[in-house]
Amino acid sequence: MSGHSAPIPMISTARGPLRGTAHVPGDKSISHRALILGALAVGHTRITGLLEGEDVLDTGRAMRAFGAEVVRDDDGTWHVHGVGVGGFAEPAQVVDCGNSGTGVRLIMGAMATSPITATFTGDASLNSRPMARVTDPLALFGARAVGRAGGRLPMTIIGAADPVPVRYAVPVPSAQVKSAILLAGLNAPGETVVIEAEATRDHTERMLAGFGAEIVTRPTDEGHEIALTGRPELRPQTIAVPRDPSSAAFPVCAALIVPGSDVLVPGIGLNATRAGLFDTLREMGADLTFETMRDEGGEPVADLRARFSPDLKGVEVPPERAASMIDEYPVLSVVAAFAEGPTAMRGVGELRVKESDRIAAMADGLRAAGVEVEDGPDWWVVHGRGAGGVPGGAQAASRLDHRIAMSLLVLGLASRAPMRVDDGAPIATSFPVFEPLMTGLGACIRRAEG
Ligand code: S3P
Repeated sequence: MSGHSAPIPMISTARGPLRGTAHVPGDKSISHRALILGALAVGHTRITGLLEGEDVLDTGRAMRAFGAEVVRDDDGTWHVHGVGVGGFAEPAQVVDCGNSGTGVRLIMGAMATSPITATFTGDASLNSRPMARVTDPLALFGARAVGRAGGRLPMTIIGAADPVPVRYAVPVPSAQVKSAILLAGLNAPGETVVIEAEATRDHTERMLAGFGAEIVTRPTDEGHEIALTGRPELRPQTIAVPRDPSSAAFPVCAALIVPGSDVLVPGIGLNATRAGLFDTLREMGADLTFETMRDEGGEPVADLRARFSPDLKGVEVPPERAASMIDEYPVLSVVAAFAEGPTAMRGVGELRVKESDRIAAMADGLRAAGVEVEDGPDWWVVHGRGAGGVPGGAQAASRLDHRIAMSLLVLGLASRAPMRVDDGAPIATSFPVFEPLMTGLGACIRRAEG
């Protein structure tokens, strides 16, 4: 519930190299899904490595509101006692999903095919984001949604008492929309099919299969389709959440642009639907290696090693890669500022409807720091100034967006003058230990006075 906390102004400054090992927290996408599927299974699911960021904690509270028991051991293991598919109770209060689009959209899907009503809200960022992309397909199951103008939260979903299965081609590349439909399909009889033109993160599909649902992905002329057989009995699981590649991106990118750096980031999930940033960085000439590739709990995992890379070159990021690195464009734009020549990012209109308009937020921050940026509705180009070439010395706004706050702070670590960010409080939604982890590597990131 980050929007409710007082702003925390922060400053980052160039100092010596970044060195050491960075243990980033658990994957946010997988953590949400573990809690929700645990709540929909019959019995006791155990989760280790759960991200204890505000977004995920809000989803845990929501699962309690729908009737599941969710408890944390002192050792950090989470236990979910699920109520079974179709077993959700009606929440007694408004469900507050804080800053989390993933949380609210997945939970709306999960409850939409049960005969219950729930009202959802969030912080100022979440309450400005579009929800019709989820409520349109949920209406096909028989659910009704009543929200504010433009399909915004607060919004009430009246679940379908007699749901029918759905076949739906997702119009925007979105794992949240795909997942909401699949979770709704769990309590519809027969087969629910989602058609995706572009592959988005597939954690929901993998985890549903792990919980015992019948789910298959088939190639089609339009991309591929995912077919789920409704009304399974989900079997509780033991889930080890891999560390988040989207969080790993911050120490990795910082190491590439801060002279003399050498950072190891162990145990990072490298699911191909999430790993686009690392391909792009290597194309730019980054000294980035994957060590000890392995499989952990059904997800590919590796140790990443990033070293200072003085000869980065601007690249054209292939638009078809966008879904696999959608959350990483803000921090990529920071690396691009320290590369030689332009980096063009096209086919990324979705960035405008994230926790903030991420193209506008980063373009403003980079321009304030002395970097030339061009942008249009679904594209932007960052004109790199080469290693050590970014002036910095500016204040920028994080716009209630954790990834903007962290990206701007990484920018300040390699700029000639410090960067100041108006509010670092949103960082707690996804990466609560960002500040101590980065300072532990030698970075100068601190809370500013007032
Ligand atoms: C997520 C999907 C993506 C991503 C978000 C997490 C998920 O959103 O930006 O941070 O866990 O499914 P979209 O589905 O809107 O692209």
